[in-house]
Amino acid sequence: MSPERVNLSAARVDMGGYTLTEHASLARRNTLRVAARASLLAEIHDAGKLQALLDYPAVRQGKLLVLGEGSNVLFTDDFDGTVLVMATRGVQVESDGDTARIAVAAGERWDDFVRWTLGQGYAGLENLILIPGTVGAAPIQNIGAYGCEVAEFVESVEAWDINEQRVVMLDHGTCAFAYRDSLFKQQPGRYIVTAVRFRLPRSRALRTGYAGIHEQLVRMGVDKPAPFHVAEAVVHLRTRKLPDPAVIGNAGSFFKNPLVNAALADRLTGEYPELTAWPQPDGRCKLSAAWMIERAGFKGMREGDAGISNRHALVLVNHGNATGTELWALAQRVMSAVQGQFGVTLEPEPMVIGTD
Ligand code: FAD
Ligand code: EPU
Repeated sequence: MSPERVNLSAARVDMGGYTLTEHASLARRNTLRVAARASLLAEIHDAGKLQALLDYPAVRQGKLLVLGEGSNVLFTDDFDGTVLVMATRGVQVESDGDTARIAVAAGERWDDFVRWTLGQGYAGLENLILIPGTVGAAPIQNIGAYGCEVAEFVESVEAWDINEQRVVMLDHGTCAFAYRDSLFKQQPGRYIVTAVRFRLPRSRALRTGYAGIHEQLVRMGVDKPAPFHVAEAVVHLRTRKLPDPAVIGNAGSFFKNPLVNAALADRLTGEYPELTAWPQPDGRCKLSAAWMIERAGFKGMREGDAGISNRHALVLVNHGNATGTELWALAQRVMSAVQGQFGVTLEPEPMVIGTD
C-alpha cells in the first residue's frame, strides 16, 4: 500500500466554486482585528454555486453570517455556525451615453469600484471614495460620507432570499434606505446580497458643501473642480481624520450620529453651542456623537488594549490584543456616559456579533 500524502495544515476544502474551512480564524477578516473563529468558513467565488453551498448539510443545519471584509462588525465571541464570504467578482455596464447602469458582483472591493467609475468618467461616487469593504455590503447600512449616501445611486439589489429560497431583485424603494439603515439591516439574516445595480450619470452638480471639502479644494489650488478633484479632497480629509485599520484595528465610526427631536436638539445646542447639529428634512436633528464622546472625556482613552482613537472620538480601536468582549464593554461605557451626561442614546453602527 502506498503511503497517502496528508497536508496537516490544509483544513480548506475546494468544493468547486466555493471553499470550506473548519475552525477558521477570522482575525484577518475583521478590521477590529479580534481573534474570533468560525466553526465553518465558506468562501464563494461562483455565484451559481450559492444554492449548492447553502444546501451543504453543515451549512444548512447551523447559523449563517454573511461577511464582506469585516470592516463593520465586532465579534464578541466565536461564531458557532457558517461564516459565508461573498468573493464573487465582475462588473457589467450598459451605457446610453449620458448614464450608465452598472451591475457589480457583491465581492468586488468598494473603493476599487469607485476609482474605476471615476476613471471611466462617471460622476456620483466621488464623495464615497476610500470607504473600506465590499460592494455587497454597501447597501446594508447605506454607506455614506461627505454629504452623500450610496442609496442615491442604487437602482436595485440582487439577493438570495433565505425565507423564500430564491433570488430576488429588490428595487430602490423596497430597500428602505435611510441614514445608516436599510431593509437588510432591519431584517438581518434574511438576504444574501449577490450583486448591486447602480445608475451613474456622466455629470452632475458636485457636492462640496460638507465641512472641509471646499477648504481642501482651495488648498489644492482647484477652482473648477471635477469629480476626481472632489475624490482627491475626500481622500485627504479621510486620511487626516480617520485611523488606518492596517495600522490600528478599528471599524470606522463605532456609533451612529443620533437623530433626536427638535426640542432636545435645541436644549443641547443652547447649553453646548459647539455641539455640531445637522437639521433633517423630517424635523429631527442629527447630533455629532463624536463631540459628545469627546466632551465626556473618552477621546484617546485606553483600557488595556481597548481604546477610543485619539484622532477621532467616534472610533473604537484595538491597540493589539483586545478581545471583542473588552471592546464591547468599553463601547457600553461610552454609551452610558453619553446617556448620563446628555440624555442621548447612542447606537452602535457595526453589527455586534455574539451578544444574543
Ligand atoms: P462587513 O463588515 O463584512 O459586514 C457588514 C454588515 O453587512 C454585516 O452585518 C454583514 O453581515 C453584512 N453583509 C456584508 N456583506 C453582505 C452581503 N453580501 N449580503 C448580506 N449581508 C452582507 N461606513 C460608512 O458608511 N461611511 C464611512 O465613511 C465609513 N468609513 C469607514 C472607515 C474605516 C477606517 C472603516 C474600518 C470602516 C468605515 N465604514 C464606513 C464602515 C464600513 O466600511 C462599511 O460599513 C462597509 O460597507 C462594510 O463593508 P464590509 O464588506 O467590510 O462588510
Ligand atoms: N468631532 C469632535 N471630535 C472628534 C471628531 C469630530 O468633536 O474627535 C466633531 C467635530 O465638531 C466635527 C463633527 O464632529 O465637525 C463631525 O465630524 P466628522 O466630519 O469627522 O464626521 P462624523 O459625524 O464624526 C460621519 C460618519 C463617517 C463619515 C464622516 C464624513 C457617522 C456615524 N459617521 O462622521 O462615517 O466618514 O461623517 O461624512 O455617520 C463610518 O460610518 O464608519 C464613518 C467613518
